[in-house]
Amino acid sequence: MTKASPLPIEVRGSAKQPLGMSPAQFLRDYWQKRPLLIRQAFPDFKPPIQPDDLAGLALEDVALSRLIIHDEKRDRWKVKTGPLTEKDFASTPNSNWTLLVQDVDKWDADVAALLEDFTFLPSWRLDDIMISYAEPGGGVGPHVDQYDVFLLQAIGQRHWAISTDPNAPKDFRPDIELKQLQHFDPDHEWMLEPGDMLYLPPDVPHDGIAFGGPCMTISVGMRAPSRAELTGDLADYLAERLPDELRYADPDLAPAKAAGEIDKAALARLRTALPFAAGLDDATLTDWFGRFITRYRNAQLPVPPEKELTEAALRKQLDGGAHLLRHPWARMAWAKAKGGATLFVNGQAYPATVEWATQLCSQRELSPGKSAPAAQLALLLSLVNDGHLVVRKPRRR
Ligand code: SIN
Ligand code: CO
Repeated sequence: MTKASPLPIEVRGSAKQPLGMSPAQFLRDYWQKRPLLIRQAFPDFKPPIQPDDLAGLALEDVALSRLIIHDEKRDRWKVKTGPLTEKDFASTPNSNWTLLVQDVDKWDADVAALLEDFTFLPSWRLDDIMISYAEPGGGVGPHVDQYDVFLLQAIGQRHWAISTDPNAPKDFRPDIELKQLQHFDPDHEWMLEPGDMLYLPPDVPHDGIAFGGPCMTISVGMRAPSRAELTGDLADYLAERLPDELRYADPDLAPAKAAGEIDKAALARLRTALPFAAGLDDATLTDWFGRFITRYRNAQLPVPPEKELTEAALRKQLDGGAHLLRHPWARMAWAKAKGGATLFVNGQAYPATVEWATQLCSQRELSPGKSAPAAQLALLLSLVNDGHLVVRKPRRR
């Protein structure tokens, strides 16, 4: 059997096939999977906008723009967000700077017309066309994007370097506000000419630097909402449509076995009330509900002590007969967890034993004396330092 040849990372496009292959083949083999450089994706490409018009747009209040200047000697990066001024442009150095303007397709019909070549993607998957202008050496530095992007060279040359290593480190440089990669070890490099296009799936480290003369790059970026954003919006959407009278209900309630326990029956009731949460595992549902239900409806909260207590100081006070009083605004619940229990207090979660979680939920005043084992002392100390328990000196007889 002959071995299948690996997929090429570089192909040649044509007026008929800007992707150098059919959209179906591109989607199957490259989309969201691997980078692809398409030489002459747009043969004889004519830029739909000129650098001066882009700079003009960056002066407008409504446009989102950034001017990034790299001081190469000291490796410092200066970022100025728009609206920019004529003065900003007048004071740029001769090289090593770039201007980036987002959403240019919304302001310029000729730029928007480029999107007609991307109709093989659902239109709602496209986010915007960002255009950059750079003088030699200009760029935003090595970075990753969280979405797919088509980088079309419009004017001049740009040197692109990428890393296809799936395990490449993604930590950011701590010293600059741009989310630049601390380590960048490219394994592919190309010089792009007008009409060439580089496709990058999300999370691929890349760095594009203007080469030789003025450079304009058109980025067709996708919209990829985070799961967190989708979840938050879905929750809001569902909440808006649910009548206030539909409530958590427990007509089947049996007498509580242990004070404050969020038991299996409560989880089952939650799953009935929240069908979209039915797929959540017990641990996640419990962790969310425990935090939620122990938060007070109004603004009152326990106040942490001015000075944190040390474990030794708490031990000394308890040994001396001090009591622990539950703060009146401390609302508690607990649930069984791996190896013990989780105690929930005002939206916070603490590892505990079933015995101590039950005790803390059922008694407003505790006198642990010398009985508090070392492991529980850590829990009591956290509760004291978070303001949920208040240390009271022993009563005089
Ligand atoms: C640029 O055009 O300079 C940046 C585009 C990108 O790397 O996403
Ligand atoms: Co990028």
